[in-house]
Amino acid sequence: MKLVHTIEELRRDLAEARAGGKKIGLVPTMGALHEGHASLVRRSVEDNGVTVVSVFLNPTQFNDKKDLERYPRTLEADCRLLKAVGADFVFAPSVEEVYPEPDTRTFSYPPVDTVMEGAFRPGHFNGVCQVVSKLFAIVEPDRAYFGEKDFQQIAVVRAMAEDLGFNVEIVPCPVVREKSGLAMSSRNTLLTEEEKAMAANIYAVLAKSKSFATNHTLAETRRYVVDSLNAIVGLEVQYFSIVDGGSLQDVDRWSDSDDIVGCITVYCGHLPVRLIDHIRYKG
Ligand code: PAF
Repeated sequence: MKLVHTIEELRRDLAEARAGGKKIGLVPTMGALHEGHASLVRRSVEDNGVTVVSVFLNPTQFNDKKDLERYPRTLEADCRLLKAVGADFVFAPSVEEVYPEPDTRTFSYPPVDTVMEGAFRPGHFNGVCQVVSKLFAIVEPDRAYFGEKDFQQIAVVRAMAEDLGFNVEIVPCPVVREKSGLAMSSRNTLLTEEEKAMAANIYAVLAKSKSFATNHTLAETRRYVVDSLNAIVGLEVQYFSIVDGGSLQDVDRWSDSDDIVGCITVYCGHLPVRLIDHIRYKG
């Protein structure tokens, strides 16, 4: 496995691999890697001759400065994990390497980028599109792997890739969970053990709401999830939207779509840490 810091060197190495007929898989990350990332890398290693993992804490997608400041930075440990799961290249550029000039490009993909995270984190998806479009242009991957934990991000990245004509297959990969059910996330390291136990209620309640939904209306199910989680001291739901899995727009009745997903964001603990998760009700 090779650690590369510059675009020039990575392009040179990848040109050789491509000339040798190898398919290239890209796993974009912001570091602080965990088993969820490892599963994306394993999948890419299975599917491609070469796997590139980018480790870049992208400042343009943070609308909250404090969130960026306290985001864990663990490049050495990340490299150990990536070597163990078979990555070929770790691309860890500096901010200046990726953004020699401020990126003034704007991306807009309504309706999928305007709701939920798009509404509560203004500018977030613009920053994600800025960095992912740069990574796609640098790496020119055949396939790119994204965790379904960031359910909305996949829809936005797909829209961006299609809009800009990138010849890349976007491969969504299942959420990886702790034994407790808590969705793995780099932000979990910011939680105390007690807070992690508290945060496990998010998925427990979502999972219970699936059977609740079989004999309750959509509005009742939404209320059940929000009220159950808000009743737990230390948790505060920011939003819980029950949406069509394709357009990501709110649905009012279970009969409105064959593909229905509940997407949630919850503040947890003393900092607090913002956690996202989702559950598929239909589809
Ligand atoms: O999902 C993430 O970790 C980030 O949003 C991504 C896709 C690596 C872009 O910085």
